[in-house]
Amino acid sequence: MNLPNLKEAQKRTHNKIPFLEEEYEVNDSLKELGKGKYYYIRTYGCQMNVHDSENIKAILEMMSFKETDELEKADFILLNTCAIRENAHNKMFGFLGRVKHLKEEKPSIITAICGCMAQEESVVDALMKKYKWVDIVFGTHNIHHLPYILERSMARQTQEIEVFSKEGEVIENIPVKRDSKYKAWVNIMFGCDKFCTYCIVPYTRGKQRSRKPEWIVKEVEDLVKKGYQEVTLLGQNVNAYGKDLENPCNMGNLLEMIAKTNIPRIRFMTSHPWDFNDEMIDVISKYDNIMPYVHLPLQSGSDRILKLMGRRYTKEEYLNLVSKLKAKIPNLALTTDIIVGFPGETREDFEETLDVVKICEYDSAFTFIFSPREGTPAAKMEDKTTLEEKNERLQELNELVNEYANKKNQEYLGKVVKVLIEGPSEKGNLMGYTETMKLVNVDGKEDLIGKIVDVEITSVKTWSLDGKVV
Ligand code: 5AD
Ligand code: SF4
Repeated sequence: MNLPNLKEAQKRTHNKIPFLEEEYEVNDSLKELGKGKYYYIRTYGCQMNVHDSENIKAILEMMSFKETDELEKADFILLNTCAIRENAHNKMFGFLGRVKHLKEEKPSIITAICGCMAQEESVVDALMKKYKWVDIVFGTHNIHHLPYILERSMARQTQEIEVFSKEGEVIENIPVKRDSKYKAWVNIMFGCDKFCTYCIVPYTRGKQRSRKPEWIVKEVEDLVKKGYQEVTLLGQNVNAYGKDLENPCNMGNLLEMIAKTNIPRIRFMTSHPWDFNDEMIDVISKYDNIMPYVHLPLQSGSDRILKLMGRRYTKEEYLNLVSKLKAKIPNLALTTDIIVGFPGETREDFEETLDVVKICEYDSAFTFIFSPREGTPAAKMEDKTTLEEKNERLQELNELVNEYANKKNQEYLGKVVKVLIEGPSEKGNLMGYTETMKLVNVDGKEDLIGKIVDVEITSVKTWSLDGKVV
C-alpha cells in the first residue's frame, strides 16, 4: 500500500527527471486477465484526464478487457477523477453511490478510483474508512502499473491503494486508444511548478517534466500518417515547455517543429501569461497550421488579488500581452478562465476584472467561484465575502462574458470559414469547429466527416454557429 502525502507532493528537488523510454509491455500471464470482461470508464476534469483515460483504455485492452458505455454491463468500473473544485468532488462521490448499488447486486464487479482526487490524502482516507468496498485506488503517477494493481486486487480481495506523491517521471510508449480518428491529444509536459495559491494541480500532478521534442514530433508524425487532421498539445502551462530539459528547446521551437510535420491543425493549452514570449507569438503568426486561438487564463483583473494568487503578472502586463497577440495574430480568438470571490476580493477588485473583460472582449470565458482546496495557501486565507455576494458577482460576470461572446460570433455571419467536420450533431446534421474553435452545426452529408471544409455561416447564436458547405 502506498498512500498520498501532502508534504511529499509539495516538495521540489533538483533531482534529474527520469525518462523511461523502453517498450511498454504487459506480462503474458496478464494478457488474458480481462477475457470476456467489460470495463466502463467515467472521466472528470480537463483534457489531460481525458487523455489519461485514453491510455488506461489501451492498457485494459492489452489485457483483453472490452469497453462498454453501459454501466450495468461492466465488470470493471473506473472513475478518473478531478480535484480542481469542490463540485468535482461532489460529482464523483455522487456517482459512487450508483456504483455501490450495482456492486451490492453483483459483488464480483471491481471498482477503481484514479486521477487527481486519488492524490489527495483526505480523499484516500475517506475511501479507506467509509468506502471500503472500493477495490482499487491508484494515482496519476501509476497509470502504467494498472495491470499489476488489478492482478493483485483480483487475487487478494483487499483494498489496493497505490498512490505515489512524488515529483514524477516522463514515461514514453504508454499505449493509447484515441477517442477520435481526426483529433488527437498530445502531452508535451506533465506537472506544474507555478504553485498559484488557489490551485491543487502542482500537488496532484507533480513537478514540471517536459517530454523530449523528438518524442513529441515522432508522435505527431505518426498521427499525420494515420490521417489525423488536428493535434492539441497539452500541458498545465505549455508556455514553460522545455525549461526543465537538458538540451534547450522552448515552446516556440517546439511549435515550429510541429508545424513542419504538416499536420493541418495545431492547438495548444493551457498558457500562462507569465511565460508567453515574443518568439512564441511570432511562430504562431508565421505558420498557417498553428490555429489563431489562445486560451489565456486571467483569473483576476485586480493587481492586489493577482499578487495574493501568486500569478506573477499585473493587469497592465496581461493587457499588454493581449494587445500584442491581437496585433500579431490576425483573427485571433481569445478565451480565458476567471475566478470570482477569491479570499479578500472586494467589489473594487471585482470591477477590475470586469474592466479587463471589457477591454479583451473574450470569445468566451470559463468562470468559477473560488473553491478552497485543502493544503493550498489560499484555503487558509481570510474570506469574508458571502456566498450570496460571490454568486451575484459570478452572474454579473457571466452576463458580460455572454455579451461579448455573442458580439464576437455575430462577426461570423455571412463569412466563409474552415471547419473540421467531426461527426453528427445532436440535431442530426454535422458538427465541427472553426480554426478559432467556434462550434458550427453544418448542413451536409456524412462523407464530410474527418475533412476540413469551407462553410458559410448562415446564422449565429451565443455559443454556436450554423452554416452550410460551399
Ligand atoms: N477554485 C476555483 N477555480 C479554480 N481553478 C483552479 N483552482 C481553482 C479553485 N481552487 C480554475 C482556474 C483554472 C481553471 C482550470 O480552474 O481558473 O484556470
Ligand atoms: Fe482537474 Fe487539474 Fe487534475 Fe485536470 S489536472 S483533472 S483540472 S485537478
